[in-house]
Amino acid sequence: MQGNAARIPVNDRQTSEPWRVGILFSRTGFMSVIEETQLRGTLIAIDEINDDGGINGRPVETVIYDPGSDVRSYGQYAKRLMVEDGVSTIFGCYTSSSRKAVLPVVERLDGLLWYPTLYEGFEFSPNVIYSGATPNQNSVQLCKMLMERFGSRFYFVGSEYIYPRESNRVMRELVRSSGGTVVGERYLRLEADRSEFTPIIRDIKRVQPDVIFSTVVGESTTFLYQAYHDLGLNPKSVPIASLTTTEAEIRAMGFDVGEGHYTAASYFQNVETEKNGNFVDRYHQRYGDDEPTNMCLEASYFQVKLFARTLEETNSLETKLLRNSVMGAEFDAPQGCVSINPLWGHADVWTRIGKANRQGQFDIVFQSPAAVKADPYLVGYGRCMENF
Ligand code: ACM
Repeated sequence: MQGNAARIPVNDRQTSEPWRVGILFSRTGFMSVIEETQLRGTLIAIDEINDDGGINGRPVETVIYDPGSDVRSYGQYAKRLMVEDGVSTIFGCYTSSSRKAVLPVVERLDGLLWYPTLYEGFEFSPNVIYSGATPNQNSVQLCKMLMERFGSRFYFVGSEYIYPRESNRVMRELVRSSGGTVVGERYLRLEADRSEFTPIIRDIKRVQPDVIFSTVVGESTTFLYQAYHDLGLNPKSVPIASLTTTEAEIRAMGFDVGEGHYTAASYFQNVETEKNGNFVDRYHQRYGDDEPTNMCLEASYFQVKLFARTLEETNSLETKLLRNSVMGAEFDAPQGCVSINPLWGHADVWTRIGKANRQGQFDIVFQSPAAVKADPYLVGYGRCMENF
């Protein structure tokens, strides 16, 4: 080995070699309804960066795997990216179970996962940047609005994995601390088909809650809302409220089926900022006017832009350098100005609540005045969370 060459730090080298990054979103299987859009958000950002000349003159090159909605495959592909493809930065994952499968890989091999999905909170890793909302940025406000408008008897229905169980744990505490009750709680397998939702909707008709809180994800979301519609329930009296039903799932289920139901999200296509108008135009030019944007796509987009800004400074993909440098970084995203909270490595994002309309879009019925600080351990909500 040339002794001198070995001592030159990577970030001082003059090179036009691409920056290689990994991408893990499912284009197939029951999670593709939303993860395909996260892939698109990631690629649009990367193409924009490369069209502008790359980062410090070097293009971004992607290694993309499709885990096929299989949780174990996320962990296996993460390992392959890091060990065989020489990648340390990974953009990916929707479900919390897939994130939990990647976590030990990036922690052991010192990678950095950029995770663009709302989740249940109560996690911290020096090897993850979390750019989706935590419960204090969506559930708290949603619970308040639902209790004020519809009543205090909640029925929970979710997919069977960690995010719905933990998200419901938080929602139950919020409901109870405001004097409400949870009158039913049901979970279905992630791959549940349409027929499995019919007994649940029958049970909901029998129990007569004021609100249904759904933590169903992926393709099954469509079946929940369709079963509700088929059995003649009315969103004006007992709406479904969710943190995961975006414009993508509404499009899949049918606009008439989704109309009148509520979602809390940091971003909707209908957000009225100049930045968002341009973003939606660019998205439509590339994928067609019928393809809506959504919160998970937008987070996938802005986190790559934040990554690029950070890499411009570090000129190195080394995890520690990137992570330290991105703390406190701000970006004028389509949802509004967002930043990475240095305390937790989670994004400070906006809180919004939307009501789905007949055009498959959300009419925004609540919006925070600015981005809300990430509080993944709900430390600012100590009294109402005292039963934890
Ligand atoms: C989720 O599983 N974090 C939606």
